Amino acid sequence: MSKMSYKTSFGVVVIVSAIVVAFILNNVLNQPLEVPQIEDVYWGEGERPTKEDTTVRKFVLNVSDDVLGDLKHRLERTRFPDSFHGVQWEYGFGLDYMKELVKYWRDDFDWRKQEALVNSFDHYKTTIDGLELHFLHVKPKLKPGQNAKPLLLAHGWPGSFFEFYKVFPILTDPLAHGGTEEDFFEVIVPSIPGFGFSQPANKPGLEDSATAVLYLKLMERLGFDGYYVQGGDHGSVIVSVMAMLNPKVVRGLHLNMYTGNTETSFLIKLLVGSVFPSLAGLSQADYNKVYPLWDRFLWILSETGYLHIQATRPHTIGHGIVDSPVGMAALLLEKYSSWTNPTFAHLPDGGLEKHFTKDELLTNVMIYWVSETVVSTLRLYRETISDRKFPIISAAHSIPIDIPSAIADFPHELFHTPEPWCHSRLRNLLQYTTMPRGGHFAALEVPELFSQDIRDFARKAEAFWRRQSEE
Ligand SMILES: *[C@@H]1O[C@H](CO)[C@@H](O)[C@H](O)[C@H]1NC(C)=O
Repeated sequence: MSKMSYKTSFGVVVIVSAIVVAFILNNVLNQPLEVPQIEDVYWGEGERPTKEDTTVRKFVLNVSDDVLGDLKHRLERTRFPDSFHGVQWEYGFGLDYMKELVKYWRDDFDWRKQEALVNSFDHYKTTIDGLELHFLHVKPKLKPGQNAKPLLLAHGWPGSFFEFYKVFPILTDPLAHGGTEEDFFEVIVPSIPGFGFSQPANKPGLEDSATAVLYLKLMERLGFDGYYVQGGDHGSVIVSVMAMLNPKVVRGLHLNMYTGNTETSFLIKLLVGSVFPSLAGLSQADYNKVYPLWDRFLWILSETGYLHIQATRPHTIGHGIVDSPVGMAALLLEKYSSWTNPTFAHLPDGGLEKHFTKDELLTNVMIYWVSETVVSTLRLYRETISDRKFPIISAAHSIPIDIPSAIADFPHELFHTPEPWCHSRLRNLLQYTTMPRGGHFAALEVPELFSQDIRDFARKAEAFWRRQSEE
C-alpha cells in the first residue's frame, strides 16, 4: 500500500469509529439541550432566615500583626526538600528559587505596602444565600455625557481578584490609556465563594454554576440589568453559565479560555481533524494549535495532576498547605510558570519573574494565606467535577449561547478551541482573536492586550444590539 492510501484508509477507520463512538455517546448521554434548573440553595449555616440582610458593606483589608508575625515565624522555620543537580522546574517548583523567594518573603516583602495597593480599590461585602460575598467595584470618574459599560471580571484558580489589578486603570480611565470615550467600563470583580475574602459554603455542592447564580444575584443587587461578563479558567465556566441562565441581563460574553463544547460533534471534529483538517474546517494554523492530539493530551495530563487530587481528596493535601506557607506558595505559584510558558520549566526561576514580580506573586499567595481559605479553593474542583447539574464535562456546556460573544485565544493557554468549532455553541461569536503573546494569567501578564480585546469586543457587541433594536 502506498503511503497516501494507507493514510486514507486510516482516515476512513477513524471516521467510522468516530461515528460509532458518537452514536453510542449520544445514546448514553442523551441529554436534552436545555438549560438545567438550578435549585435555590441556602449555603449558610442552618435554615434560610425569613428576612435576609441585603446591605452592601464597605470592606477594608487589614491583616493583624499577629497573623504576619506567625507567618514570619513559619517562614523562619522552613524545612526544604532536596532536589537534583541540574534539575530546574521539570520535577515541580524549583528548590533554589523557592529558597530565594522565601528569603524575600521573610525579610523584604512589605505586606503593608501591598495591602495599601489592594485597598486603593473599593471593596465591599454583601450576604447572598447565606454567604458573605466579597467583591471589588471600581468605578470610572465620568464627566457629564460620558457613559460606562458595567463589566464583571471572573477569576479562577490559583488566582484571585488581584489578577486584574493592572486592568482596572486601563478599563476605567481609557482616555489616559490609549482608548476613547467609548471605552469606559465600570468593573465588578467578585471573589469566588471560599476564595480570599468570600466566605466558603457550609455544605457540599457549591460549584461553578452555583457561583454563577450568586454572581447573577450580586449584579441584580447592585442594580445592573445589562452588563458584560469576562472570564478565564473557572471564571470562564462561571460567566458562560451566567449567560445561559439569564441571557436577558448579559450583553456580552468575553472568554480567555473556552471550556464549552463537550458535545459529541466536537469529538467527531477532533478525530476527523486529526486526519483531514480541512474536512473539519481547520486551517493549518488551527491544526497546529490542537495537534498532534497525543502530544497535546500528554501535555495536559502532565499539567493537571493537581486537578485530579483536588477533584478527589482535597482535604488530604489541604492539611499540609493550610499549615505551611511554603507548601501553599509552591502549589499555587507553580502554575504561574508552566501556564505562562511551558518552556519556562527549564529556567532556574521557572520564568516567574519574566512577567510577574515577587510582590505580585506573593500578594496573590497572601490572599489565600491570610484568609485561611485555601482548602475551600481546592474543594471547588471536587464540587465542579462531580455529578451536579453543570459539571464541567457535560452536555450542558454545549447549550447554545446567543448573546454576543468573544474569545481571546492566548498562545500559551492550556488548550485551544479553533474558531470554526466555537460557532455551534457561541452562535453570535463576534470576535475570535489569536493573541500575539500571553498565557493563562493574561490579565496580569499582558493587561494592555487583554483590555484592548475587551474594548474591541464591546464596540462590536454594542453595534450588534443597535442592529437588533432597529430590526
Ligand atoms: C488596621 O487596624 C489597626 C489596628 O486596629 C489600625 O491602627 C489601622 O489604622 C488599620 N489600618 C487600616 C488600613 O484600616
